Amino acid sequence: KTIYLKDYRVPDYLVDTTDLWFELDPKATLVKSRLKVRRNQAAGVGLPPLLLDGVELELLSVTLDGILLSPAGYREFPEGLSIPVDRAEFLLEIQNRINPEDNTSLEGLYLSNGMYCTQCEAEGFRKITFYPDRPDVMSKFTTTIVAPTDHPVLLSNGNEIERGNYGADRQFVTWEDPFAKPAYLFALVAGDLEQVEDSFMTVSGRTVKLQIFTETKNVGKCDHAMRSLKSAMRWDEEVYGREYDLDIFMVVAVDHFNMGAMENKGLNIFNSACVLASPETATDSAFQRIESIVGHEYFHNWSGNRVTCRDWFQLSLKEGFTVFRDAEFSADLNSRAVKRIEDVSLLRTNQFSEDAGPMAHSIRPDSYMEISNFYTLTIYEKGAEVVRMIHTLLGEKGFRKGSDLYFKRHDGCAVTCEDFVKAMEDANQVSLTQFRRWYSQVGTPVLDVKDHFDETQGVYQLTVRQSCPLSEKQEENLPLHIPFRVGMLDSTGKEISLNEQGLTETILHVNGTEQIFEFFGLKEKPLPSLLRGFSAPVKVHYSYSNEQLLFLIRNDTDTFNRWEASQRLALNSLAELQEAYRKGEPLQLRSELIDAYRGVLKDRGLDPALSAEILQLPSEQFVAEESVFIDSEATVVALEFARKAIAEELADEFIRCYCELNSQKSYSPDAKDIAERRLKNICLSYLCATETQEALDMAQNQFDSASNMTDSAAALTALINYAGDSQAENSIAQFYTRWQEDAQVIELWLSQQSCSPKRGTLKNIRALIEHPAFEMTNPNKVRSVIGGFANRNFKQFHKNDGSGFEFVADQVIALDKLNPQIAARMVIPITRWRKYTGAHAEEMQMALQKVADSHVLSKDLFEVVSKS
Ligand code: ARG
Ligand code: ZN
Repeated sequence: KTIYLKDYRVPDYLVDTTDLWFELDPKATLVKSRLKVRRNQAAGVGLPPLLLDGVELELLSVTLDGILLSPAGYREFPEGLSIPVDRAEFLLEIQNRINPEDNTSLEGLYLSNGMYCTQCEAEGFRKITFYPDRPDVMSKFTTTIVAPTDHPVLLSNGNEIERGNYGADRQFVTWEDPFAKPAYLFALVAGDLEQVEDSFMTVSGRTVKLQIFTETKNVGKCDHAMRSLKSAMRWDEEVYGREYDLDIFMVVAVDHFNMGAMENKGLNIFNSACVLASPETATDSAFQRIESIVGHEYFHNWSGNRVTCRDWFQLSLKEGFTVFRDAEFSADLNSRAVKRIEDVSLLRTNQFSEDAGPMAHSIRPDSYMEISNFYTLTIYEKGAEVVRMIHTLLGEKGFRKGSDLYFKRHDGCAVTCEDFVKAMEDANQVSLTQFRRWYSQVGTPVLDVKDHFDETQGVYQLTVRQSCPLSEKQEENLPLHIPFRVGMLDSTGKEISLNEQGLTETILHVNGTEQIFEFFGLKEKPLPSLLRGFSAPVKVHYSYSNEQLLFLIRNDTDTFNRWEASQRLALNSLAELQEAYRKGEPLQLRSELIDAYRGVLKDRGLDPALSAEILQLPSEQFVAEESVFIDSEATVVALEFARKAIAEELADEFIRCYCELNSQKSYSPDAKDIAERRLKNICLSYLCATETQEALDMAQNQFDSASNMTDSAAALTALINYAGDSQAENSIAQFYTRWQEDAQVIELWLSQQSCSPKRGTLKNIRALIEHPAFEMTNPNKVRSVIGGFANRNFKQFHKNDGSGFEFVADQVIALDKLNPQIAARMVIPITRWRKYTGAHAEEMQMALQKVADSHVLSKDLFEVVSKS
């Protein structure tokens, strides 16, 4: 069944207060709810039946204003309850039972290593009790948890108001949340947990207690998250004027979790992988991921909780905005340029391919079957880019005026993307009428840029044409308002002034199908630097020569575009290699690319963070995304050849750079140290690509002596990918023996193997699935092994015999019975068959068909498969 935005109606009934009572038991948890229900005047006249959502619940009783209803007094459906009512206000009491232990979907209330926890977004609350489970029904919650004494920590939203014994062997705690909220923000946790405590003084002088809860063995891994939380709280006060609003803020780490984390009011629940870290066990990227996710969930307290979504079509209202907020937070705390490069890389590799695939949707979709399938890169990352463009158009101050008005106007309300844009307009007296199309149009826009220089007049013309490939659903795409940031370089590499004030950069407002922009008073034809900082989520086509790209890498003042030029140059070189391979000609790598890399390695003045980014070849996935039709074999061959050629040509430079950076400094996750480790480990990886004994010895040495996980894991990856069988297997085994008790390290260990083009063969992947460290009911393990193989091991997954596709299909079929959300994610790589040709596309389709024919699919998996 498809749900449409155009069918939105305000709720018939509102719930002023929600009192919940839980008696926890693994197989039979008792849930009692008391709801103060009131007819919503805005919904019209009369008294329609009260409709409540409820899934997989055992209903025990329904009481209306104290009168127990007989089964004839209501109707139960597979997905809810309908109760005829004869009054506009009443007290509804419901009792039901649920089974947390058998709940492997990880939605609603479930058990993770003996700890009870919940995940209610988007529609998990209906797996706890009967309720109007929609975000525009906001209610004040009180929650009492009764549990055996071996679960001493009992948590819910808001403030603790009472606790005590309950009978001989149980205890209870009551929580009260003073802020009205939708059910998706409800949370409950119960377990034998340890806590790390700190405090934060808000700008107005209130002291907030901060607590991170985790299993005893992990208390040493909470410092970084705590530090990140305090930075986030300060940052939101300073940059957005947002202060925290409760006396306590709790974070809980959970091993079984479908996504990264969840912003439940006052009680954020995190996937352990997104909160726990120590230098010995977590890589630099884990440290950075934790900082940004802790920030993200904290920022939701305003962008999501105080102001929430009217319906799930508006998901990007909170997610796009909050991703933009967390990206700026990370940029302010670390290297802004690197953060931007990473985010754009993710967007272009994965969101652009979503746009080109069967599940393509706009950032505000107009229909869905299962909302869980729409927690996508489009909603999150493209949504953040759209907010960033508003920021670009209004400027820092104007954007702040807009966000202040948005929070003030809509505090305590459930609103729409339109309300957000309107607040931005009203606060700045501007019109974003055309800009709004970004919310409803599907697809990646393309800018075709041509230029012309009139020497006699000194006039330089840029002609910009915009277009957007149509998806099946969209009949037409109207021109968008695209902020197109540009600069220009002269032949000496200097920036050219674009006006009398000496401005060297400008934003062109691209808003028509074709426009000509003119620049006057130039002495020579300039070299344009286009879409600086990636000012819009579009593809730019401009035919740079390889010499021009090399020139930009060396001279552009826009850091992002220096990196961008290096990517383009690499893509051109890879395309040539692919072409030669297809023609059966000898392969040869362009000298410009090697020259560019040599220049970077020799330039001691260059920020190591930028050097590291430039020195990385585009991934197979990005090369594939950039092709109209993907030739997977040629893609793999070209990249392997290029990597090895670069490694051999520049071996001396890599060794020198590696040795210079291979210091014995103590670990710190600050931006400078992270950049240096990254650059060093990129050098190591190239060196090992030569497969010389000398290089492999360096890797072995680093593996044996590393004092932090970044260096240890990088060395292991190099050994896995380039060492001989026995050396690689020894290292893999040694690493496992050392870390088998640490879930986060083992997840990394699994993915290092599954992502390896060399050791991640189907045979080895099958062995990993049989390994005691693997758990089909744990999404992190599934993502590490199956996700790693299908999304990041291009070579083995795309084997021409189709065995990789069939394997993934089989896993998806098994997963769907345990965890539909994860099954629907894992199937995605085989739904992208339209980008491939011939037998390869057919193999993918066959695997997909196998899934379709296997059983009655879950709603989640059905939507993805049926749309492909
Ligand atoms: N709102 C959360 C976040 O982005 C993610 C939602 C979790 N959803 C889920 N189905 N597990 O921070
Ligand atoms: Zn979020």
